[in-house]
Amino acid sequence: MKALYIDCCIRGKESRSARLAEVFLENLSPEYELTRRRLMDEALYPLTADSLRQRDALLAQGKSRHPRFRFAHEIAEADLVILAAPFWDLSFPALLKVYIENVSVEGITFRSTEQGLRGLCRGKHLVFLTTRGGIYEPGSDWEQAVPYLKAIQRFFGFGDFRYVAADGLDIQGYDGEAALQKAMDEARALAKEL
Ligand SMILES: Cc1cc2nc3c(=O)[nH]c(=O)nc-3n(C[C@H](O)[C@H](O)[C@H](O)COP(=O)(O)O)c2cc1C
Repeated sequence: MKALYIDCCIRGKESRSARLAEVFLENLSPEYELTRRRLMDEALYPLTADSLRQRDALLAQGKSRHPRFRFAHEIAEADLVILAAPFWDLSFPALLKVYIENVSVEGITFRSTEQGLRGLCRGKHLVFLTTRGGIYEPGSDWEQAVPYLKAIQRFFGFGDFRYVAADGLDIQGYDGEAALQKAMDEARALAKEL
């Protein structure tokens, strides 16, 4: 089985979200063959008028194996996808949105049908691991990362969406390290379950 780790922990070694992700990955069954996709190392660009035109032309010619679609195939073919990113400006960093823009490709990750959108990703689970400076109750409209990624799970056709968040890491006087340790326990348990 293939597991794909999409690493958008921009602060690298200093990132608490990356620490949370590593605990998850360490506890994943060895049956998974793990690929690490470190978004900070990839040449990812937002779509432009020209690149959209090129994309449409390639797809119209049936060239869906063109290298520019490699990340779309990679996510579509993974059995388990793990996303890790910090909470920035009420959501996740723009780099992750750019990645999503690049992998949202009709005929690879989703298809438009008369009955509506149909996801084409074969993965059973989409897992999101994050850390946040403040504290967010589930469903708070100040938190726009989880609802968006949950919609992406349905859009791309993953079986389910699971997430672990460590909250309050930047609140003075709050025991952020304890919150992180608690989230790590949750991440460990989730990895063992999947
Ligand atoms: C650019 C930037 C934007 C942030 N925006 C928010 C925010 O909107 N809400 C919040 O609670 N914390 C915010 N934070 C704090 C981070 O969510 C928090 O420090 C998180 O643990 C960072 O994760 P990392 O250690 O993996 O980089 C922001 C931090 C940065 C650097």
